[in-house]
Amino acid sequence: MDAFLLDSHIKHELNVPLGPQTWYGVGGNARILAHPSSAQQLSALAAAAHERKMPVYVLGSGANLLVRDEGVDGLVIKLDDPAFKQLKIEKNIVTAGSGYDLAKLLLQTAKLGLGGLECLAGVPATVGGAVRMNAGGRFGDIGRSVRRVKVMDVSGHVYYRDRDDLIFSYRKSNITAKFIVEVEFELTPGDPEELMREVKKIMILKKESQPLPEHSAGCAFKNPTVPTNTRHDGPDSKPASAGKLIDVAGLKGARIGGAEVSGLHANFIVANAGCTAADIFALMEHVKSVVNEQFGVTLEREVVVWP
Ligand code: EPU
Repeated sequence: MDAFLLDSHIKHELNVPLGPQTWYGVGGNARILAHPSSAQQLSALAAAAHERKMPVYVLGSGANLLVRDEGVDGLVIKLDDPAFKQLKIEKNIVTAGSGYDLAKLLLQTAKLGLGGLECLAGVPATVGGAVRMNAGGRFGDIGRSVRRVKVMDVSGHVYYRDRDDLIFSYRKSNITAKFIVEVEFELTPGDPEELMREVKKIMILKKESQPLPEHSAGCAFKNPTVPTNTRHDGPDSKPASAGKLIDVAGLKGARIGGAEVSGLHANFIVANAGCTAADIFALMEHVKSVVNEQFGVTLEREVVVWP
């Protein structure tokens, strides 16, 4: 792989710490971190790694990612070259490259009076990462605004996935191709001032209830669906809040090493100085087992873990 990289002139680094590339700030090194500058380079990289049976990982903004302390013995690809950050706006159809910053996109579209993405205010992500796992929250998700997605598979073949065949569910999409290259959104014309008010409202709510300035990966666990007869939610229960369960279990402030359950929102595990990925895993396991013991609910991790 090293010889291929040298010959191909694809920008890359060897043995790079991945911690600084993630919001958690912890974790080991990547054997290779590559920054292709065109779809052709991406395709050549993907094919070379595929041929050599080398595991490939795609790094977005690292906001929902926990890298294990032993690091990643494989190829990490970051689509941060301007080639993957293009933006085209034609009436209400917005086409954004996979590496485009979601926060920037939602502000730009809201200001232009194009609605649909304002519900994602306060979600740190690239467009590709957000679509892959249908980012969103109480106010809506990204999937509902997606018209089609340009993807590339591991052998470098490029094709489109259209709305009819896309399924977006809770933090999940049915996009299986390794790379999202570009996303086409169909937005709804609206009043720019109203859209910006919504963005600000959501940001204020999040700042009040989530430890945004600290090192975390957002919510650590998905919100579970609780059966109607559990002690926690009573007879008419719906999906429950993982944060509320962890809070009621008395776990706010619980610590293992440098990892701590946030005192502001219990579904956020924050990394304090000196924290390791192992501390975060251990605290997640502790939280899972206490919540299971107290409420009979099995929490499922929302954070993506490498490797
Ligand atoms: N709550 C507590 N204690 C806590 C945290 C929450 O009692 O420590 C209560 C709240 O008072 C509220 C309820 O639990 O009554 C729900 O809390 P919140 O409104 O914060 O929503 P959430 O279900 O915990 C979800 C998403 C967030 C998203 C928010 C707002 C999940 C796992 N979480 O949180 O997404 O920001 O809605 O849209 O789906 C993320 O995915 O990383 C994330 C942070």
